Amino acid sequence: MVGNRMKRLLSVLFLLAAMVTAVIGVNVTYDHRAVVIDGKRRVMVSGSIHYPRSTPDMWPGLIQKSKEGGLDVIETYVFWNLHEPVRNQYDFEERKDLVKFIKLVADAGLYVHLRIGPYVCAEWNYGGFPVWLHFIPGIQLRTDNEPFKAEMKRFTAKIVSMMKDEKLYASQGGPIILSQIENEYGNVAESYGPAAKSYIKWAASMATSMDTGVPWVMCQQKDAPDPIIDTCNGFYCDGYKPNADNKPTIWTENWTGWFLTFGGAVPYRPVEDVAYAVARFYQRGGTFQNYYMYHGGTNFGRTTGGPFISTSYDYDAPLDEYGAPRQPKFGHLKDLHKAIKLCEEALVATDPATTSLGQNVEASVYNTSSTCAAFLANVDTQNDATVNFNGNSYRLPAWSVSILPDCKNVAFNTAKINSMATVRRFVATSVDKLSDSKAISSDWSYVSEPVGISSNDAFDKKGLVEQINTTADQSDYLWYSISINFKGDKPLLRDESQTTLHVKSLGHVLYLFINGQLEGSAIGSYDHPNFSKDFLVTLKHGKNKLDLLSLTVGLQNYGAFFDKTGTGITGPVKLDGLKNGSVVDLSSQRWTYQVGLKGESLGLHTGGSTLWVSGTPKSQPLTWYKTNFDAPSGDNPIAIDFTGMGKGEAWVNGQSIGRYWPTYIAPTTGCSECSYKGSYSPTKCLKNCGEPSQKLYHVPRSWLKSSGNVLVLFEEKGGDPTQISFATQELESVCSQVSESHPLPMEAWSQDKSKSKASVSLECPHPNQVISSIKFASFGTPQGTCGNYSHGECKSIDALSIIQKACIGSRSCSVDVSTSTFGDPCIGVVKSLAVEASCA
Ligand code: GAL
Repeated sequence: MVGNRMKRLLSVLFLLAAMVTAVIGVNVTYDHRAVVIDGKRRVMVSGSIHYPRSTPDMWPGLIQKSKEGGLDVIETYVFWNLHEPVRNQYDFEERKDLVKFIKLVADAGLYVHLRIGPYVCAEWNYGGFPVWLHFIPGIQLRTDNEPFKAEMKRFTAKIVSMMKDEKLYASQGGPIILSQIENEYGNVAESYGPAAKSYIKWAASMATSMDTGVPWVMCQQKDAPDPIIDTCNGFYCDGYKPNADNKPTIWTENWTGWFLTFGGAVPYRPVEDVAYAVARFYQRGGTFQNYYMYHGGTNFGRTTGGPFISTSYDYDAPLDEYGAPRQPKFGHLKDLHKAIKLCEEALVATDPATTSLGQNVEASVYNTSSTCAAFLANVDTQNDATVNFNGNSYRLPAWSVSILPDCKNVAFNTAKINSMATVRRFVATSVDKLSDSKAISSDWSYVSEPVGISSNDAFDKKGLVEQINTTADQSDYLWYSISINFKGDKPLLRDESQTTLHVKSLGHVLYLFINGQLEGSAIGSYDHPNFSKDFLVTLKHGKNKLDLLSLTVGLQNYGAFFDKTGTGITGPVKLDGLKNGSVVDLSSQRWTYQVGLKGESLGLHTGGSTLWVSGTPKSQPLTWYKTNFDAPSGDNPIAIDFTGMGKGEAWVNGQSIGRYWPTYIAPTTGCSECSYKGSYSPTKCLKNCGEPSQKLYHVPRSWLKSSGNVLVLFEEKGGDPTQISFATQELESVCSQVSESHPLPMEAWSQDKSKSKASVSLECPHPNQVISSIKFASFGTPQGTCGNYSHGECKSIDALSIIQKACIGSRSCSVDVSTSTFGDPCIGVVKSLAVEASCA
């Protein structure tokens, strides 16, 4: 009885204590070594997840996996143009529910770094700026300009006050421990002249005046005024020193891969190199590092920037576009985080003492009277090294860092992966239970989009117009239409079939229609959005209708004055090859313009309207298609494979899944073997050369009902929607390859190390799955990677049966990589164990 009362009293006291902490909040400061939370210096690992690049339904899972992966902090930008699509009209619903996202992060016990920007870059349309900013009289973006500063301050204040109202700052008991103002302005400041300096001073004092109670950072801003911390972005940030001794070394963007563009091959960054960069950073004095991206996700709707940024923003991040752990990247970094955390006490206590252990090999030691941690780095891009450190010998693979949390034992080496690998693939799935067809539907209806001017809002103007100024980005599409009359006294044409129409455009895509027929197209690319093209065209005597449809594929997001780059057919537009040898310059003639498509103004994307007629015309440009479908069964992530279509946008139950463009093919070259050793760059490691840059497009499960879903496509070039199919993400294999010389698994750290061995561990990702078969097992000198291992010359004959016995029927298994388990098939050779298994 007394015991119960006591328990109740204790729990009330506990609750009160929790409430007091929540109300009082924690004190976040910083010093030379670290971000300091409630008086304690912290080593932190952070990861970027941009809330609108996934759905609220996915958020809890993503956050939970981030926590499992060893993150302490989630970093996100705030996307101004999403939240304020019309000046003074705010939107924080669904994927835009910033407060909900932050609260979910808090619920998981993680912190938040809120990067308000409000310029964010981020491969996001117009760098996150609402396009209406551009139309404010006298405005100059990102410089010391009163109209701009007023807007930037208003939006920053809006976000800060929302956060304060919800008590989301750590100072109020919430999760936000850091906040960013501006973004990489230092990279472009010079172009803005002397006003750059005063702008940054203003931005700093504007931010600090908001009184958030937590520190502010500016990234890539060497002259960030006190008390703002200047931070580093890049593939490597070791050796970065902030601009004052009382500021900690923070890495706000460690690019885990790179973004994909329409027309580009798919970039990836080997995890050995990511881990190397991270370990080097902590080795050389860093205490806060953020993965950009930890989950990249999807650019739904028309949110991509670029131009030419793809709809997928997978980024080769530790969590793939669909939220699944990308293994071994996820697991290897998780092990790395554990190793770094084992060093925390030493890391925050002192600066490292670095000494050379030979050419390209250096040791950094964090040593205090009570603790010692060491990092041994071999920065050589080719050669492994054997070094002597504190009287012990260590083998250091080229381009690797070993972490010794006790200055003696190696807990982790960046180049030796203990974590398992997985192979996931999208497999076409049939939604029609009665047939084997993989098509989404054979039952389509359509609406033809008129060629040229169809709207009462069309207008005439002399000369050619710039596109963003004209559309205000309300649509990707702008029609430029003109009629040419070749009847008259002087027959102008030399040869009716040999006329050249020369068009110069700032980009990004152009379709040319003559007399209602698609005659040709021109496309730019990420590196060269603009183009000039000569179309050989046929004109008839009499009146000819020229309709040029100019398109944007995301507005530029980076560079000095990126907002002024402009798009569209600014000319010249000329007709060449005329009979008298003259050129007719159409550029300054009167053109008729229409912003957007008829189908857009009718809202066809929802599938409503009485205009739909049944049928599936194929290869017909400018066509809206619609069908109904049942959701693919199960709960694996879903994509649409758009093979068969040209280019356009797609909506599921009225929600845009983004622009699709499976016909933009990556170059055939540039995908040669890539080694993780040596400095990474975005073009170093590429895959999918000669294939569509993106053919699979994410359809979030939460946007679907089990049946009666509506899919609408707008196809620009012409395609065949009966060819498109659903695909679901399936786990094909789990693998692991570990050698006798690998460090012990991280779990062994707290155990008796002399009794532990390097080991292979496999686990089926889903709790209700077990290892159902062993596709490959070899102990000796196996070669290859997950999905295509092969035996080497040296192999134990028992490997397969030993692994089968240990693993089949269990969700997970672990087997020592040891001759006592497998016998010794080749004495004196370092052996490894490779296993590939499947789960069911
Ligand atoms: C950085 C920028 C990020 C993102 C990244 C590339 O320069 O700060 O927002 O654009 O590059 O993915």
